[in-house]
Amino acid sequence: MSLIKDIDPTQTKSWKKLEQHFNEIKDQSLIELFKKEPNRLEYLSFDSGNFYFDFSKNHLTKKTLSLFSSLAKEMGLGNAKNALFQGQKINKTEDRAVLHTALRNIKKKPISLDGVELMQFVFAELNKMKNFSIKIHEGKHLGYSSKRIENIVNIGIGGSDLGPNMVCEALKPYWIKGITPHFISNVDASQIDPLLKKLNPETTLFIIASKTFTTQETMTNARTARNWFINHASEKEIDKHFVAVSTNSQKVIEFGIDPQHMFKFWDWVGGRYSLWSTIGLSIVCAVGYDHFTDLLKGAEKMDEHFLNAPLESNAPTLMAFIGIWYNNFFKTQTQVILPYDQRLAYFSKYLQQADMESNGKSIDRNGNQIKYETGQIIWGEPGTNGQHAFYQLIHQGTKIVPCDFIAAALPAHDKTDHHDKLMANFIAQTEALMKGKNIKSVKLELKQQSLSDKEIKTLLPFKVFEGNRPTSTILIDKLSPENLGSLVALYEHKIFVQGFIWNIFSFDQWGVELGKQLAGNILNEIKSGEVDKSHDPSTQKMIKKYLSHKRS
Ligand code: F6P
Repeated sequence: MSLIKDIDPTQTKSWKKLEQHFNEIKDQSLIELFKKEPNRLEYLSFDSGNFYFDFSKNHLTKKTLSLFSSLAKEMGLGNAKNALFQGQKINKTEDRAVLHTALRNIKKKPISLDGVELMQFVFAELNKMKNFSIKIHEGKHLGYSSKRIENIVNIGIGGSDLGPNMVCEALKPYWIKGITPHFISNVDASQIDPLLKKLNPETTLFIIASKTFTTQETMTNARTARNWFINHASEKEIDKHFVAVSTNSQKVIEFGIDPQHMFKFWDWVGGRYSLWSTIGLSIVCAVGYDHFTDLLKGAEKMDEHFLNAPLESNAPTLMAFIGIWYNNFFKTQTQVILPYDQRLAYFSKYLQQADMESNGKSIDRNGNQIKYETGQIIWGEPGTNGQHAFYQLIHQGTKIVPCDFIAAALPAHDKTDHHDKLMANFIAQTEALMKGKNIKSVKLELKQQSLSDKEIKTLLPFKVFEGNRPTSTILIDKLSPENLGSLVALYEHKIFVQGFIWNIFSFDQWGVELGKQLAGNILNEIKSGEVDKSHDPSTQKMIKKYLSHKRS
């Protein structure tokens, strides 16, 4: 029996108190909060392993945290966490457990599902990935003309692409010499075409990664890759160049991949939480099995932190509270992710799926329409690039955009001057966003530039920065595989806590189905040239327009 309470958070006593507290705090600036509480940093920042968290530049006080902590208790967060880790079927609409944490259970704590111990299966697949990758790296698994495999092409989309792609990019300094990973996701052939043109079939391995092995984009790209390969080599060589990662052996066999070359995972692994599973095969091939296990170890560390750290220093839980505070009380709508690290270029893209596919829901766990805000809009870009693009809006726009600043103190290169500049910007931005620039300092600055009083008066309003913009900062010692694992798990758990408090099911994604269904219908019409009159006029016209272009 599930111990999770499915209650409307806004009807709890703690939520009501948070509403009152919001009215007390909403007009106090961050600078005022620092003045009132000189020891603020002590309770709003902490070290945890290789991470330093600073939440002090947020509109929070001890009272905010204590009210959120009561909310978590009132809602039963403790039970929810246990339900997640113990494999209760908390993905109710699909009747599935949610056990991505079992995939990084390196310490092999027993975990069973429906009376079956799972860790034996997890480790069997890990071993299979290990042995396979070693064969590739040692030149024992060769291509059809006995050349070494040099290019690994992961064909997948959503969770079967974003996680491994993000991790491979982040761990570029760890890439095994002679191996280059590539990622193909879009059904738009503008992505696969140019890649195939530059690849040599003799040295290329395709990983067809799809939980269902039915996803239109992936199967279309997989068939294109297969045809390309057969044109250069022959059908009987496919085994050396195609492997599958899936939960669906039947479909893998139908596609023509030998089940021996299939790496399994299970329906209790959600697509967007699957990089820890065999979906991480491209990562193992790119950085080696040991680094992949370090990634898992880092995630396991964060799992333990999430389960055991007291609330005041429980990073994922605090981040979830902060997100809810802004989303539901300050009504901020969005959350920007700003990694000051080019290696994390795909991190916000990855988090978009992890967060928005999980918490973009408007029906609660009892099947009722929700009347409060749920999932935040996640976006972002690495600093410093973002500074020269959208930071204007964050600094001086009409919206408040809560920011997560992330950086690694030690770089993987030796260009100290670059890194000092990067870090100076990283630190400066959070200060600038909080402090802003008042009338007095703008006037002084303009005077020093010898502007006349009239010129100063005209320019003044444009040059003032209100400040008071909230930021959270995460400083990691270095972006090692282990720390990356912890960083990803940190956000996974933040998403879990938020979804739980919002009383939604975070682990299904029914909202993606309708578009797929309609695309299927429209594709049939495009192929037959007969447009169904049941479409609305705008849709009918668009199909006809496309058909007329196609015929011309
Ligand atoms: O369309 C959404 C989705 O189902 C994601 O949840 C998933 O990560 C992605 O498609 C890919 O699915 P699959 O791995 O089954 O190809």
